[in-house]
Parts: sequence; C-alpha cells; structure tokens
Amino acid sequence: MPNPIIKINNLSKRYRIGAEEKGDKTFRETIMDWVCAPINNFIKLRNLTKFKNNDLENVIWALKDISFEINEGEVLGIIGKNGSGKTTLLKVLSRITQPTNGFAELYGRVSSLLDVGTGFHPELTGRENIYLNGAILGMRKKEIEEKFDEIVAFSEIGKFIDTPVKRFSSGMWVRLAFAIAAHLEPEILLIDEVLAVGDISFQKKCLGKVQDVVKGGRTVLFVSHNMGVIRNLCKKVVWIDNGKVVQKGDVDEVVKDYEKAQMRQVDKSSYIIERNPEEIKNSSFYFNRVEIFNEKNERTTLFRYNEKLNLIIGFAGFPLTNKYSVEFHIYNELGQMVSMGASGSYHDKYFSSNVKKIKIGIGPLTFTSGRYRILLKVLSGGRYYDIWENAAGFNIIECQPFKTNHEMSVFREGACILQQSFDEIE
Ligand SMILES: Nc1ncnc2c1ncn2[C@@H]1O[C@H](COP(=O)(O)OP(=O)(O)OP(=O)(O)O)[C@@H](O)[C@H]1O
Ligand SMILES: [Mg+2]
Repeated sequence: MPNPIIKINNLSKRYRIGAEEKGDKTFRETIMDWVCAPINNFIKLRNLTKFKNNDLENVIWALKDISFEINEGEVLGIIGKNGSGKTTLLKVLSRITQPTNGFAELYGRVSSLLDVGTGFHPELTGRENIYLNGAILGMRKKEIEEKFDEIVAFSEIGKFIDTPVKRFSSGMWVRLAFAIAAHLEPEILLIDEVLAVGDISFQKKCLGKVQDVVKGGRTVLFVSHNMGVIRNLCKKVVWIDNGKVVQKGDVDEVVKDYEKAQMRQVDKSSYIIERNPEEIKNSSFYFNRVEIFNEKNERTTLFRYNEKLNLIIGFAGFPLTNKYSVEFHIYNELGQMVSMGASGSYHDKYFSSNVKKIKIGIGPLTFTSGRYRILLKVLSGGRYYDIWENAAGFNIIECQPFKTNHEMSVFREGACILQQSFDEIE
C-alpha cells in the first residue's frame, strides 16, 4: 500500500471580499512563525480564521469541503478555470494562509513556488534568500553550500545574486524562486503556474527540472492551465471548480472531461462575450470583453476554411508597467492547441498601458471543420496579469483542405502559426 504524504480533510477557506484578512507580517514575525512551526514532519492546519456571521453576504468560499489524499511520490495536477480555488489550496498547504474549516496533514518538508511575492524576503539579496529558504527547509549550512552554485547557475541571474530581490524583475524573481524550490530537495513541492512566466527555453528547462524532481521520487502538486504540460507531467489530476472537487482520477480521463466542459461553455457563447466578473481574480489589469468578426466586419462565430477572423478585445484596469503584450491560443475539441500567437515575443509589438482596445487578426484559418476555442493572455513586466480561458469560440463549417491558396506558415511547439496581426484601436 502506498503511503499518503498529504491528507486533506474537509478543507474550506472563506474570504471576505474587499477586506484583508491580516496585514503583512514583519520579517521578524515571519521568522518567528517559521522557527515555532514544526518543520520536518507533522504539520496540522486548523480553523483559526474567524468571521462574524453578519458578514455572510460579503464572503466567498474559495475552497469548500475539499477532501483527498496524495501518496508519496505522486505527481498530482490541479486544474480548473480562473478563480476556482487552485492557488488557495496551495496557499493553505504551504501555510501562507490558514483554512477556515477542516485541516490538512503533510508528512514531509514542503517547498512552494506560488505567486510572485511569496517565499522571498525583499530586502535580502538573492544569496541570502537561498540560505534563508534552505534554513526554513531544515537544511544545514553545508548542505545549502553544496547546492548553491547549482541554484545560481540554473537561475541564470549571475552577478545579480548579491542584489536585494526587491530590485529583481518578476522574471528574475521566478527564475531564482524556481531554482531554489527545485534544488533544495523538499519532500513535497507545490508549484503554481510558474511555467507561464519566462521565455519558452526557460519554461522547458523548468519542466525538465520538475521531471527530475519527480523521478527522484518526490511528491509534486502542480497547478497549470496548460493541459499539454499537465498530460506530460502528471498521472493523476484533480479538477476543482467553485472551490469543490469535481473529479479526481487518471489524467487522460479528467482532462478530457474538463475540456468537454470548457467546450460546452464556448458553445453557449456568442460573437460578443462580456467577461464574467467572477473569473477575474485580484488582478489590476484584465480582459473585459471580446467580439468576433469575419473579414467583412460582420459579427459571426461561423467561418469557412481559409477565411480570416478578427478579435476586438477590451481591457480594464492598469498594469504596473507601462507596456503590455497579448497572446492567444486556439484549441480544438480534443483540447489540443492547434495555433498560437504572441504580439510581443513573435512580433515585438507592445501596447502602451493606456490602450484599452486592440484588434487581433488571425488567419486565413486552415483548420478542419469543428469547434475551436480561444484562450487569451495579457503579459506585462514578465508576468501574466490575466488568462481568459474561454474567451471566445468559433466553428469551421466548411473545409477544403486540399485547395489551399494561402502561404502556410511555420509550425512551433506542435501548433501551426497562422498569419497574425495586432493593432491598437483605442
Ligand atoms: N485574499 C483574497 N481575498 C478575497 N478573495 C480572494 C482572495 N484570494 C482569492 N480570493 C478569491 O477566491 C477564489 C479562488 O481564488 P484562487 O486564486 O484560489 O483561484 P485560482 O483557481 O488559483 O485562479 P487562477 O486560475 O486565476 O489562478 C476567487 O474567487 C478569488 O477571487
Ligand atoms: Mg491561481
């Protein structure tokens, strides 16, 4: 019988909307918390967060009665749409936040890689943070020293290792955080979508490292919106929606059902899609609307083979940096990515942060008949502000695959890169 290394028991987490549960801790408080916590083996999390009953209308349950177990050496993928509770689950497991009800037991040293901003002390240098994180994991100085060069080499941050991490770009932050989390040999590694940040070659390097960690028999919980990566890395998957477990089981089965559910959502959509506010997590810059047009500027979701598609995309809020870029992915009904595009990395096209409406032109569409869905991402300062999974859907209704009249472009990452344009509107 395999041993459970994590037991999650009726775990619930309630947030109050618009209210901070607690202020940031000082560095000293954080250290004291760490020192006082039993680090090496048994961690029990209990219902320490209390709310008054009269606040009920202002609360949301980010997690509701979640129970499951993870065995030692298992690589568990965690999937679910935006705002479904994935990050909250990892935050509770890594003790960044406390559960409202229920508890989780973790029988091993935990290292986590969550949002940019957790895990590092901003005033300390990269070097000092490596030692700090090692100490938190219960490692001796000599053990950390042995890993030090490997971590710095992997992170590719070179001479910036002696710079306070508050001066790091978010890309540098993620590189170092990933290098530390993966090299300091935790027994349980929690990773939240970090591979979405950074360039493709670094993402590949990270995936390779995660695979090494997995082969070394460690337990990994891995949150991602990228079903290709999930299929590649995980044998088991848990699908979370609205804070509840919808399904847990073998990767192929769960991912297939998840993707079917996403397609159903696209089916309901039309050529003007307003963003559901519940899907927007605490982001300061996000998509709020998309409209689909054909090349004659008619609103439609029906396209013929070789026709072009235009998306008019609206944004709300402001990114922290003054420029942003956008990406799109197109998925078929099997959940395979069939095409992608990126204004920044493919075309060096960046929008000023006060541009609130843009147009993406895609095509000629050289897809076979069937339904397709479009995912949109907005990137600024090396970080994804928003990922809109079911931004839009369209159908190819007539297909003449042997009569192409366009110049077929390159294939990349298994997807066909169609002609694409990115333009500012307002
Ligand atoms: N500190 C907070 N205060 C209030 N609500 C919060 C807080 N953190 C998360 N939430 C809410 O809890 C829900 C779950 O959020 P969570 O970040 O766990 O989702 P997620 O599955 O990680 O989403 P994504 O895929 O977009 O990263 C969302 O409705 C979110 O708005
Ligand atoms: Mg998240």
